[in-house]
Amino acid sequence: MTATLRLLASAIALVAGLCVLTASAADLPKESQKKATAADILTLQKYTEDIVAEPAKNKKLIPGAKALVLILGTRGDPALAAQATTVGKALEKKDYKAAAAAAQGLLSPKAEGKAVTFEYDLNDVMAPFRLTRSGGLNIEKDIKDAISPRGTGKIEPAVAELIGARTAPLADIIDTMPNDKAKTNSAMTAKWSKFSKDMAKASKELTEEGGKGDKADPKKLIATLKKLDASCSNCHNEFRD
Ligand code: HEC
Repeated sequence: MTATLRLLASAIALVAGLCVLTASAADLPKESQKKATAADILTLQKYTEDIVAEPAKNKKLIPGAKALVLILGTRGDPALAAQATTVGKALEKKDYKAAAAAAQGLLSPKAEGKAVTFEYDLNDVMAPFRLTRSGGLNIEKDIKDAISPRGTGKIEPAVAELIGARTAPLADIIDTMPNDKAKTNSAMTAKWSKFSKDMAKASKELTEEGGKGDKADPKKLIATLKKLDASCSNCHNEFRD
């Protein structure tokens, strides 16, 4: 399945206050979004540079790079969204040099007012959850390391904050991309949407609690991570082959 999203258009909609999702990425604390955006830009620059340097070895980074483009497109900054989608379009065309060059411009994006679209699929959106060595952002492992029976039972607030600030926008995007099974009837589509919204809600809570830094409640962080993890598993049990 492929989808195209007018990121710039959606960013403008957010600015205009047209977006009334209950737990959307736009509701995340500004400070958390700022920190996550800085981390995402650095990672996207590194991924695109690595792809240019050794394309054969680093092609596995392409889905994760596309996901970072999507995440940056949700942060409520139209110029950043436009610049990010330029990176996405170049990745789609397999012009990796152009992608890396456009990624360099992310720190001071020039608003061109052009709505760029690019193609991505659910596999791209799920890429950040994979292990770092598989081109992901290690999100699933970070969650499991904290909450599984053999896990540490704790997580750094800043790590939790960054996970939430990434999974919240991904949840909103997943919500718009029901897979074939979720499209078989409206009840199935509603289930898909519910799991996505559960994921968005837990992600937002995680970002908020993690954003408290030293004052974050360690128990609440773990309880919220478990809620987030349940939203993933519930959807996988129902919809993933
Ligand atoms: C609403 C449904 C839904 C939610 C919520 C969801 N997923 Fe998924 N996930 C899927 C489906 C469907 C696939 C298979 C995608 C495909 O066909 O490529 C998948 C694939 C994956 C993959 C495999 C990617 C690969 O091919 O290597 C990972 C890892 C993953 N999900 C982790 C997560 C984590 C972690 C969360 C929660 C933070 C999550 N998912 C939330 C539906 C969901």
